[in-house]
Amino acid sequence: MRLEPIVAGNWKMHKTPSVGVYFVEETVNLLLDIKHVSVIFAPPFTGLIEMDVKPPFYVAAQNCHWEDHGAFTGEISVSMIRDCGSDYVILGHSERRHIFGESDEWINRKVDAVLSGALKPILCIGETLDQRESGQTQRILKTQLEQGLAGVDSIENILVAYEPVWAIGTGVTATTDQVEVAHAAVRNILRELFPGSDDVHVLYGGSVKPDNAEELIQVSGVNGFLIGGASLDVDSFTSIIRTVEKDQMRILC
Ligand code: 13P
Repeated sequence: MRLEPIVAGNWKMHKTPSVGVYFVEETVNLLLDIKHVSVIFAPPFTGLIEMDVKPPFYVAAQNCHWEDHGAFTGEISVSMIRDCGSDYVILGHSERRHIFGESDEWINRKVDAVLSGALKPILCIGETLDQRESGQTQRILKTQLEQGLAGVDSIENILVAYEPVWAIGTGVTATTDQVEVAHAAVRNILRELFPGSDDVHVLYGGSVKPDNAEELIQVSGVNGFLIGGASLDVDSFTSIIRTVEKDQMRILC
């Protein structure tokens, strides 16, 4: 049976807290009848405390530090995020890896901290264009999963997001074949690392838009989306969620 899909909107460094609250209220009001999709909003840290949503709507932070407190100027800990009422933390996003130099080892410490703090990591992985063109995609995905999840006993509370770096914010979406192959690879690696992990969600991210959501959600192994640009606009975000809901209803019927 297909997993119930999850659609997450990663706002990155967009929306002030007041704009974010208004956006979430508007979005939730338009989606009150949604039954088969969970929706996650990931505002900047400054917006977390203002978010007040109930299932099937959830809130994610976009990053955290692995220590609980201390002299780490500019950082935010898991207990601070939990105290804001958040449910998830996005970790290892390609912008954290490539702009801010986060290593798999750091990401692994954060995964551990998020799990210890009873929140759920959304672990992002994905290859660069160079790595894809030199045939390294599967090796990179394996390394990022092995190292990011090192020492993790149970993967039950973890979501994985496959986001090819070259498709993020570029308008270039991976083809359905590329997405299918990558998701199958991710699933196989997860099975090797965590036998019985087939109910772990693997989301796709990278230029998901209203006009490609329908074909992407039908790709085998895609259990939902992690969306950047199109999650900032009420119409495009709700349209993608409705597409995913419709597709899930089609499968359930
Ligand atoms: P875009 O949807 O803007 O390509 O961003 C994807 C992403 O990075 C989500 O985390």
